[in-house]
Amino acid sequence: MGSFKEVTSHPNIDSLLESLSLEEKIGQTNMLGGSIYHEFSPKDQEGLLLKGSIGSMMFLDPETNNTLQKKQLSLSPHAVPILFACDNIHGVQTIFPNPLGEAASFDPALAEKTASAIAKEEQAMGARWNFAPMVDIARDARWGRNVEGAGEDPLLAGDFGAARVKGLQGNQERIDGEHVASTVKHFAGYSFLEGGEEYERVNASSLDLKTYAYPVYQKAIQAGASSVMLAFTDLEGVPCTANRELVQGLLREKWGFEGVVVSDYAAVRQLYNQRYSASEKEAVYDAFTAGLDVDMESRLYIRYLKELIEEGRISLDALNQTVRRILLLKEKVGLFERPFSDVTKKSLLLSQDTLSLAEQVALRSALLLKNDGVLPLKSTAKVGLMGPGIADPKTQNGPWSYDNTLAKTVTYQDPLKASFSHLTLLKEAHEAASEDVVLYFAVNPREESGEAGSLANLELHQEQRNEIRDLIHQGRPVVLILTSSRPLVLEEEMAGCAAILDLWTPGTMGGSALAKLLLGIEEPTGHAPISFPRSAAQCPIYYNKIRSCRPYNPNDYYTSRYLDLAQGPLVPFGFGLSYYPSRLSRLGLTDKEVSLDGTLEIHYTLENLSDHSLRRLAQFYVKKELSRPLRPEKSLVAYHWVSLAPHEKKEESFTLPISSFAKNENECGEYLLSLNENSALDLESVAFRIKR
Ligand code: BGC
Repeated sequence: MGSFKEVTSHPNIDSLLESLSLEEKIGQTNMLGGSIYHEFSPKDQEGLLLKGSIGSMMFLDPETNNTLQKKQLSLSPHAVPILFACDNIHGVQTIFPNPLGEAASFDPALAEKTASAIAKEEQAMGARWNFAPMVDIARDARWGRNVEGAGEDPLLAGDFGAARVKGLQGNQERIDGEHVASTVKHFAGYSFLEGGEEYERVNASSLDLKTYAYPVYQKAIQAGASSVMLAFTDLEGVPCTANRELVQGLLREKWGFEGVVVSDYAAVRQLYNQRYSASEKEAVYDAFTAGLDVDMESRLYIRYLKELIEEGRISLDALNQTVRRILLLKEKVGLFERPFSDVTKKSLLLSQDTLSLAEQVALRSALLLKNDGVLPLKSTAKVGLMGPGIADPKTQNGPWSYDNTLAKTVTYQDPLKASFSHLTLLKEAHEAASEDVVLYFAVNPREESGEAGSLANLELHQEQRNEIRDLIHQGRPVVLILTSSRPLVLEEEMAGCAAILDLWTPGTMGGSALAKLLLGIEEPTGHAPISFPRSAAQCPIYYNKIRSCRPYNPNDYYTSRYLDLAQGPLVPFGFGLSYYPSRLSRLGLTDKEVSLDGTLEIHYTLENLSDHSLRRLAQFYVKKELSRPLRPEKSLVAYHWVSLAPHEKKEESFTLPISSFAKNENECGEYLLSLNENSALDLESVAFRIKR
C-alpha cells in the first residue's frame, strides 16, 4: 500500500484545497453511513469515488475500509483519503462500564485512561474519528441516552467530558497512531426532552442552558475537541442543525471553536421532514448557512450545495472555509500519511492492560445503595444465585456494544463459582431456605436503554419484582445485584433487600469485578452521578434545582411536594456507601471574605475508623444566600479522593478559585460552603462572602 503514500501526502492544506474542483470540495462535506456496500452496486461505488464524493464514512471493518480506501486513492481525482468514523462510546472489543456508570467513580482521570484505551482499540480497527463524548446533562431517568453521559451535575459532567476528549485525542496538536479525533455532542440541550421521550421537543429555558448545559459543552470543547455534533432537537423552535445563533454565534464566535461541526444522523433531511425547511434544498441552505460542515448520511449537501453556490446563495468562500476545516481534521489525524488501517494492530485488541483497566473501572463504578451488614461475604458462605442477569453478556456490556464482544465477556457466574465453596443456582424462591444469602441478578435489558430507549416505567420488570418479593418472603437475606443503564425505581427493593449493589453495565470484566467486591477484596466506592427517583412521575429530578418559591415543609400543606409520594429522590446525587466506616469533619476556611478573582483555602479532616485501608470521597457544595435571577439552590464545587491507612486521620486542604463557580459581580454576596457525603447530607457548613 506504500505506493499510495506519495499521492496522498498533502502537507499543505491550502494548496490542496485550491486544487480541488467544486464537486470534490462538496464531496468532502458528505459523510455516508456504512450503507454504501448494501445500497450501491460496485459500478455506482466507483462512480462516487471517481467524482470524489465521499469525504467521510461510518466505519465498517479494517479490511473493507482498506479496500475502499485503495479505490478512493486510485480513482478519485485528488486522492483525498476517506476519513472513517465511528461511535465507540464505551469500548470497541474491550467493553468498559457505560459512561454514566463510569462517572460514579467520580474520577475523571480514570475516564481519561478509559478513553485512551478505547482510542487505541479504535485505531486498531481502522477508524480515526469517534462520535464521543456525549456530554448532555442527565436528569431524567426515563431518557435512555443518559447512559452515554456523566450525569446531572455540570461540574462532574464537564470534568468527565474534558477528560474523555483528552483521553481519546492524546494531549498533542497532532493526533497520533494510538488516538482518535473526538466529538462533543449533542450540541445543545438534547437531554432536556419533554417527558424524557426520545426525539421529542426540547424544553429548556436560556437559564437552563446557561446554568446547566453550556458550561459542560464548553469545558469539553476547551479541552481540545476536534468536532462538535449538533443535536437532532430544537431550541426555541429552531432545530440545532439549522441554528445560526447557536453555531455561528455561540460556538464559533463566542467560544472560538475552529473544528468541524457535524450533523447527527440524517438530521439535514429531518429539517425538511419536520417542515422547518421548505424543501430538501432549503434544508441544505438552512444547515449550511447556520454553520454545519459535514452532512452525516442525509446525502443532501452532495445533491444541492452546487446549485446553491451557482445561484450565489452560498458563497464559494464559505464552502472553502468548511472544506478547509475538514481537510485540517484529516491532516490532524494523520490520514494523509497513514490512509490505511494497519491490520496487524488487531493484535492490540483486548490486551491484558486494557482488560485490567476495564476491571478497575468496573470496580470503581460499583455503587452500593444499601447494606445492612450482609456484605462483604465470606467465601465459605452458602450462596444462592437467581435472576436473569447471572450470565447475560449482552446486558452486562450495555447499549453501545455489539454481539462480537459477547464471547470474551466474563459474566458473573464463573468468577462466583470460583470464589465461593457453596454456590447453588436457584430456580424457585423456595429453594433458598437453606442458603446463608441469595444474590438476585436483576437487569434493565440492553434493548431498553440507549438511543430510542425511553421508558415510561422505571421499575424492574414484573417477573423480576415478583421473584425478589418471593425470595424476601423466604426470610433469607437478599442481595440485589443490578445490571442497568439507568437509575431504576427501587422503593420496594430498597425496603426489603439486605443489600443493593448497582454495577451499571460493567462490561467485559464485570464478573471478576463483582467477585472481588462481594468478597471484600475491593470495597465499593461509587457515588450516584444522577438522582434515583422514587417514581418515574418525579422525573426530571436533580439536586441542583432552582430554589422553590415554597420549598417542602412537612408542617405546611401549601409547600412543594407530591401528596402521594415521599419527598425527594430515593437516592440523591453523590450518594454511595462503602463497607467500612470513616468520618469527614472539621471543615474550615482560612479566609471568609474573598474577591471574585480570589481563592478559597479549604481544609477538612478525614478519619478512617476501620482496620482496612480505604479511599473516601469528600464533596463540597455552595449555596448562595440571595440570588437574582434565581440560581441552583446548591452546587457541587469540588470533590476529592483521599486514601487512608487503617485508622489513619488526615488533615486535608486545597485551594478553590472563586472563578470556578462565580464569574461576575452578580454572583458576589453571602454563601455557605458545605462538606458532604452526598448532595442531600451537609455534614458541616461554613459561611463566606464574595466581596465586590
Ligand atoms: C446518534 C448519534 C450518533 C449517530 C451516528 C445518531 O442516531 O444520535 O449520537 O453519533 O447516530 O451513529
